[in-house]
Amino acid sequence: MKILVTGGAGYIGSHTVVELQNEGYDVVVIDNLSNSCEKSIERVEKITGKKVPFYKCDILDREKLSEIMDKENFDACIHFAGLKAVGESVQKPWEYYENNIAGTLTLVDVMRKHNVKNIIFSSSATIYGDPAFIPITEECPKGVCTNPYGWTKSMLEQVLTDIQKADPEWNVILLRYFNPIGAHKSGTIGENPNGIPNNLMPYITQTAVGKRDHLTIFGNDYDTHDGTGVRDYIHVVDLARGHVKALAKIKEKAGLKIYNLGTGTGYSVLDIVKNFEEATGVKVPYEIGPRRPGDIATCYASAKKAYDELGWKAEYGIKEMCADSWNWQKNNPNGYED
Ligand code: NAD
Ligand code: WQD
Repeated sequence: MKILVTGGAGYIGSHTVVELQNEGYDVVVIDNLSNSCEKSIERVEKITGKKVPFYKCDILDREKLSEIMDKENFDACIHFAGLKAVGESVQKPWEYYENNIAGTLTLVDVMRKHNVKNIIFSSSATIYGDPAFIPITEECPKGVCTNPYGWTKSMLEQVLTDIQKADPEWNVILLRYFNPIGAHKSGTIGENPNGIPNNLMPYITQTAVGKRDHLTIFGNDYDTHDGTGVRDYIHVVDLARGHVKALAKIKEKAGLKIYNLGTGTGYSVLDIVKNFEEATGVKVPYEIGPRRPGDIATCYASAKKAYDELGWKAEYGIKEMCADSWNWQKNNPNGYED
């Protein structure tokens, strides 16, 4: 099976390419490198010992996409390409709607013209808004998103659902990721945020390596066991393997399917700091600050459906997630620039 991986030079994409190649899939990556660099691809090649065919291509570029699809005979697409910075999306909503929504519409149109009607889409727990219940099952109603990034995911879920409904030849799998952290065991690929990290784990690792002075914990007055926000952190390699399992479902011609990819366990910010310190032996200085606008108290998955229907569950625990995030950061203090 030949798989088109959009956004395959990025954090989750690069880890997924490793797992796909390890499972014997033919993989072709396209990426416009707006939030990544080709070095990640070279490092994936080192890990797997296989060539990763790569095209620098924007998913908005209909002509180039068509050329690539004329040349390669894809069976399915795993679609990671997109902009993902929550705060930036509030400042630049047009750019987010254009890139994520127009980009996906273009990609899907070129796919159907080439009779490639199998897609796995990177969605997010953010579509649940402030979730109606916890743990969050896939039946939990979609909520009110607090930023344009979240709306792009929510809207694209609807777009892909409607396309599948209108043409049952499509197989569409929506994967709702919770909070991916960690890195490949080799420590050679990992998350490489631009500028000041928005997400907790890269902020912690950059503090631990001395690039940031201290972590600010956004609020300790939530209704949680220690007052800090609770999330479902998942190792990126587990997440990547979830995509391999989803491909098996595509082969069964499953129509439309939706799965949470999380561990089912919630950890608070203070739990993460403690686990990081215990796993690495490195102190993380922190201060308590005000709440971050748009944040919710608690968000964790029910991971039952993915287990029942895909035979997938997360294998790595929180200590390993912390240790692997740290291994990547300390070996590459400046990400792929090292
Ligand atoms: P990332 O930024 O590391 O990877 C995304 C890749 O897409 C980058 O390499 C970027 O250069 C590329 N890209 C962006 N716009 C493009 C375009 N128009 N054409 C071609 N390539 C383009 O992000 P990631 O963390 O690996 O996330 C992958 C996907 O998963 C994204 O769609 C993201 O929204 C989604 N997601 C991420 C998280 C998370 O916390 N990391 C959680 C839920 C969902
Ligand atoms: C986790 C916890 C913060 C940074 C975001 C997106 C979501 C998805 C994953 C893409 C929260 C706290 C954080 C810091 C802190 N991405 N925190 N100090 O907000 O759960 O989800 O990333 O789809 O859409 O919204 O993740 O890592 O930003 O925060 O105290 O410097 O850590 O308040 O409780 P979040 P996060």
